[in-house]
Amino acid sequence: MFWGRVWAGRKKGKSIMTVTKDHLNLGKGQDILPIQRIDYVEFYVGNARQAAHYYRTVFGFEIVAYKGLETGSRDTTSYVLRQNKITFVVTGALNPESPVAEHVKLHGDGVKDIAFLVDDVNKVYTEVTARGARSIQEPVDLQDRYGHVRKAVIGVYGDTTHTFIQRGDYIGPFLPGYQAFEGPASLSKVGLSSLDHMVANVGWNEMEPWVEFYRKVMGFSQLASFDDKDISTEYTALMSKVMQNGNGRVKLPINEPAPGTRKSQVEEYLDFYRGPGIQHLALTTGNILKTVEELRRRGVDFIRVPDTYYENLAERVGHIKEPLDEIRRLGLLVDRDDEGYLVQIFTRPQADRPTFFFEIIQRHHARSFGKGNFKALFEAIEADQALRGTL
Ligand code: FE2
Repeated sequence: MFWGRVWAGRKKGKSIMTVTKDHLNLGKGQDILPIQRIDYVEFYVGNARQAAHYYRTVFGFEIVAYKGLETGSRDTTSYVLRQNKITFVVTGALNPESPVAEHVKLHGDGVKDIAFLVDDVNKVYTEVTARGARSIQEPVDLQDRYGHVRKAVIGVYGDTTHTFIQRGDYIGPFLPGYQAFEGPASLSKVGLSSLDHMVANVGWNEMEPWVEFYRKVMGFSQLASFDDKDISTEYTALMSKVMQNGNGRVKLPINEPAPGTRKSQVEEYLDFYRGPGIQHLALTTGNILKTVEELRRRGVDFIRVPDTYYENLAERVGHIKEPLDEIRRLGLLVDRDDEGYLVQIFTRPQADRPTFFFEIIQRHHARSFGKGNFKALFEAIEADQALRGTL
């Protein structure tokens, strides 16, 4: 793993690159990598047409743009899906030689890229590569009749990438090469509004190097840390550190397995994804009761914690706005921190391999991640792992 080697090398005094504290602007309190927002998350999938239908029909997204044979794309097909501030792109291969086909063969369906909207791609690319980021694509102009967009790509854990996008005054439906999607009118929405956080699973002893990568290369800071005492059950454990960018709009928790007597969910992921990658995306809603009711009605399969979770819930979390019998009926989890409370729920894996899943979350001022729910949640995941023969 490239970064593991770099930082391991640095610790031993064999620095592969020269990075001075001055150059990093550390401690000067300035955002070295200003990110306006997450532009989109791209999935590589086995069948983009059906994946787009799934996200539209089940999760309430609208298909807004398309790229494929009809638009002159000979190797890949992509659908762009949007719901409020969330944009997903699902991309599939049109031939077995496509790198997308290779990616899907190795990993199954999964998140390939998290794209960030920035003001100046050249500046960002120069900055992060000078700090040691692995370049995948140098800054390049993409152009069509709607204008032009500048982009660059760097590699992070496994085959996952970050794209930097500079849109300028581009007025097309998504990016150059895409056309507006002409299809049936959208279905009613389910109320998902934004991306709250995106969690990566990395291998043994790889969390710290990646924390350092996001700190030193991307200018992120650490928001929270959970060790194996926080996140363990009788059988399995994991560790996690939450990194966030300068303006707090991008939150990236990074998990690694910790020793336990059985195989943890992170190890199960690494086995089936064949390496590190995105484990889950947390999507916010302003009304989790309505959203989850509707998602359940449309067939979304959620992890179910044991009924005992609800026995002392009122004492644990105090007064909450949502009726507790509704919380229990819908299988929602509640946790409180110093600033407020949150309500959350987790889907089962979204593809055949037990890898990627979604979290649905509503925050009532809480800024934490549901630490009080970890044990019950992970025991429920272990019950699913036991059924899969992977515990
Ligand atoms: Fe989460």
